[in-house]
Amino acid sequence: MTASSARLSPTTPPARFRDSLGRFATGVAVVTFAHGEDGARHGLTVNSFTSVSMEPPLILVSIQRTVRAHALLAGRAFTVNVLGAEQRDLAMHFAGKPNLEPEWADGGHAPRLAEAASWFECTPWTHYDGGDHTLFLGRVERFDHRPGACLGFVDGRFVTIPEPAARSGLGS
Ligand SMILES: Cc1cc2nc3c(=O)[nH]c(=O)nc-3n(C[C@H](O)[C@H](O)[C@H](O)COP(=O)(O)O)c2cc1C
Repeated sequence: MTASSARLSPTTPPARFRDSLGRFATGVAVVTFAHGEDGARHGLTVNSFTSVSMEPPLILVSIQRTVRAHALLAGRAFTVNVLGAEQRDLAMHFAGKPNLEPEWADGGHAPRLAEAASWFECTPWTHYDGGDHTLFLGRVERFDHRPGACLGFVDGRFVTIPEPAARSGLGS
């Protein structure tokens, strides 16, 4: 333990826990889905997207219990849209700061965003208790990607993740 190390206890400032987690750089994605009789489209910005399994193809997002989407996602098809570097406005739009009219594309199972860097259309697989979050696993039914820099998130800030010059694999 260093002088600045901290243990989680009832008196630990949650900010220190959050800031420590924030050192882990992630991409940024929007979970989209439709609900209601009119099939209204909804979205929620997340950085908790994780690949889980190749066979069957499973992915995971962790959703806070207090957000509106939480009550709607169980048993529902959804798409994870990984954002490109130029899509910061979309990230904020779907994080409770509406600022634009998103362009949508129709999916076979769930709606998706028109210009995502990659997308994964999922049918519901299962969900697990994750404390004040719920872990939603989806089975990937359709997916695709495009080239270009991706949007990243680290230390509470958006960053650009440049596309590697060569896309031929690890170490290249
Ligand atoms: C970069 C970024 C990443 C986020 N990641 C998550 C996440 O993984 N899970 C989550 O529940 N909320 C996450 N949020 C917060 C939600 O996007 C936000 O609370 C939600 O859109 C509020 O929706 P509501 O107003 O409909 O309740 C993130 C926000 C940002 C800006």
